[in-house]
Amino acid sequence: MRIIEAKDYQDMSRKAAHILAAQVTLKPESVLGLATGSTPIGTYDCLAEWCKSGDLDFSKAATVNLDEYRGLDHDNDQSYYYFMNKHLYSRINIDPSRTHVPDGTQPDPAKESRRYEELIRSLGGVDIQLLGIGHDGHIGFNEPNSFFDGDTHCVDLTEMTIEANKRFFASADEVPRQAYTMGIGTIMRARKLLMIISGEDKADITAAALCGEVTPQVPASIIQFHPDVTVIADPAALSKVKR
Ligand code: PGA
Repeated sequence: MRIIEAKDYQDMSRKAAHILAAQVTLKPESVLGLATGSTPIGTYDCLAEWCKSGDLDFSKAATVNLDEYRGLDHDNDQSYYYFMNKHLYSRINIDPSRTHVPDGTQPDPAKESRRYEELIRSLGGVDIQLLGIGHDGHIGFNEPNSFFDGDTHCVDLTEMTIEANKRFFASADEVPRQAYTMGIGTIMRARKLLMIISGEDKADITAAALCGEVTPQVPASIIQFHPDVTVIADPAALSKVKR
């Protein structure tokens, strides 16, 4: 595992964007695994800027996102598709038909989960998966005690995640109770993982995930077993990592 200490959030974002940009430059038809949340916004801003200036070309790339709330459609401003469209897709020259997020509106969760997993396989797998980390160690919506070998599935969200995400909704009651997520097995099949972490509030979980025991209680700890992982984090997030 490579751990790169960035100077601050901006520096973390630029460094992560450089890695994604290099991936697309080296392999224009790359399948990029993407993430939502506050952490990747700066990374997406850089990619959008470099695409606008002509330095990056996404015309042959495809994207698959980690997760989506169950029940929300693409036009719902709290859906992860909406987030991705706002922060990235609409700002780069990617073919919208090659941007993929689980379909929150599908009535049959098992069927939608199978479809998404099959879609990722049919694209040839994920070349590089961008990841954030939740305060409870989740990756995607794989909450503590998820199976390490799971495929895409529908999950019940924990109270901690509902609490953390309610800032985006009018109230906690409006946060969907379920979501689709790539499983940890799906994430671990990506050829490369790129985790970005910012802020002191993530210091404890960062230390647990990167240096602690690999345990389903800290889902992100599984990345210690991936052969090609880069973590880019600011000094505050790394403050409890002993190196
Ligand atoms: P955040 O979310 O970037 O908003 O902190 C990260 C996550 O929950 O994976």
